[in-house]
This record gives sequence, C-alpha cells and structure tokens, in this order.
Amino acid sequence: MPRPVSVTYRVSPTPAATARAGAQLFTEAAGKAAQSRGLARIAISGGTTPKTMFGLLADPAEPFLKQVPWDKLELYWVDERCVPPDNAESNYRMTKEALLSKVPLPAERVHRMEGELPPDVAAARYESTIRNTFKLEGAETPTFDLVLLGMGDDGHTASLFPHTEALNEMSHIVVPNHVPQKDTWRITLTWPVINQGREVAFLIEGTGKAQVLHDVFLGPYQPEVHPSQLIRPASGQLTLLLDSAAAAKLPAPANSDSAGTLELKTGTLELK
Ligand code: 6PG
Repeated sequence: MPRPVSVTYRVSPTPAATARAGAQLFTEAAGKAAQSRGLARIAISGGTTPKTMFGLLADPAEPFLKQVPWDKLELYWVDERCVPPDNAESNYRMTKEALLSKVPLPAERVHRMEGELPPDVAAARYESTIRNTFKLEGAETPTFDLVLLGMGDDGHTASLFPHTEALNEMSHIVVPNHVPQKDTWRITLTWPVINQGREVAFLIEGTGKAQVLHDVFLGPYQPEVHPSQLIRPASGQLTLLLDSAAAAKLPAPANSDSAGTLELKTGTLELK
C-alpha cells in the first residue's frame, strides 16, 4: 500500500512566478542543508520547465546568486537522456547553458550522468559516484536534501515512464530504463531513492499538465499508468509548485500567502 502523504500545492499566477518559487525553494533548501550539515546535496530534473528557474538562480540582478551557498553545494541529476553532454537533448547541456556556466560551482561538485556511455555502464558508474560522494556503506541509500522533479503529460517523472521496467526497481539507486514509447533508453534515479529525499518537490507549468495533475493526485492509484503516483516521500510531505494553468483541475487553493515577493495560493491534499 502506498504510504500516506500530505501534498502542499503552491499556485502562482504565471510560469515566471512559478520559476521564482522554484528558485526560492532551491535557495532555502541549500541554505538550510549547508547550515545544518555543512553540505547541500540537490538532485535536479531536465526537460524544459527548470530552465527559467535556473536563469533566476544565475541572474546577478536577482537575490538568489548571492544567497545560494555555492561553495557547499553538490549537484546531481534525477535522470538523463542517453546522449553526449553537448547534444541538444542533454539535460546536462541545458543546465550548463542556463546555470552552471554562470555560477561559482566548482566542476568537481557537479555530478552529471554520462549519457554518452552505454546505459547500463552509465547507470552503474553514477551509482558508484553517489555511493562515493555520499560515503555510503553496504546497502545504505542516499538522502538528498532536495529532489526537484518535473512531470510529463503522460504522468512520468524523472525517467520513470508508464509501464517500464524501472517502476519495479526497489534495490538499486540508479538504473538504465528502456522507454519503448520513445524508442530510447534513459538513466534514472529509482523512486525509493527519490522518496528518501528530505524535501521533494514538483515544478510543473502549463495547461497541458492540468489533466495529468488531476489524475495523479485525485485519480485512482495506478502507478503503472501514472508513475508520478510512486512519489510519496518518507517525510510524509510533498510540495507542488504550479502555475494556475497547471493547477486548473485541482481544488481551488484555499489559502493565500506571500512568501517574499511572491503572491501564492496554497492548498493541501491528504493522500491516503
Ligand atoms: C527529462 C526530465 C523529465 C521532465 C518531464 C517534464 O529528462 O525529460 O527529467 O522527467 O521533468 O518530462 O518535462 P518538461 O519540463 O519539459 O515538461
């Protein structure tokens, strides 16, 4: 049975405001982790949605660049496409162009998935990278300080696609995953590892995601069909940063709060 989780969804009026909410969450999580553990380990997603958030984090005219403890940050990816790092499809390339090329984060603390290698080799090497950098022993698994996810309009997250092998993976940290619906391979963190994150958040925008958001959080529990339903963090808390278009089919958020410069409406869903 899936573990119960309290989902807080924070709805911003525009994609730009959602990106700002994402940059704020990233900055706060990095600051908290660096303060309490001396190091912040954050796993990010690819796709298109995070690009604007990365731009805000790297923008000298915004507060985030000065606030993020870049000297105490270790950056990881949630998933990657099986392409070289300079390929237009590469999540690493997108992040390098939007963020890494503009912020003071030393290369040795940027842990990219090697999409250019055979998927099983890349997955095994990334699992060792995580084991070594987290100094894991035996069957220990990593606890990221923040895991930032996206969601596809088919309900996939990371590279956990509907009806694919990786949905049944419970023991590895990272696996190769064949995605017949895209006729491709991907490398992805497994969902038990994502669920171990201290903070786990989805960043989702656009009308095209409204129906799947409704189905994932208000529909029947069918993780083979909607793999994002596997995301039930051990903390019992899950955050959704949404724009109003994406949130259109969720119950109207009851509360409004202003976090810093943000005007947000928040709602909660208790998933049993
Ligand atoms: C990837 C991502 C993936 C992404 C969703 C949403 O490699 O594609 O990590 O899980 O988050 O596909 O993508 P968009 O943000 O482009 O809608």
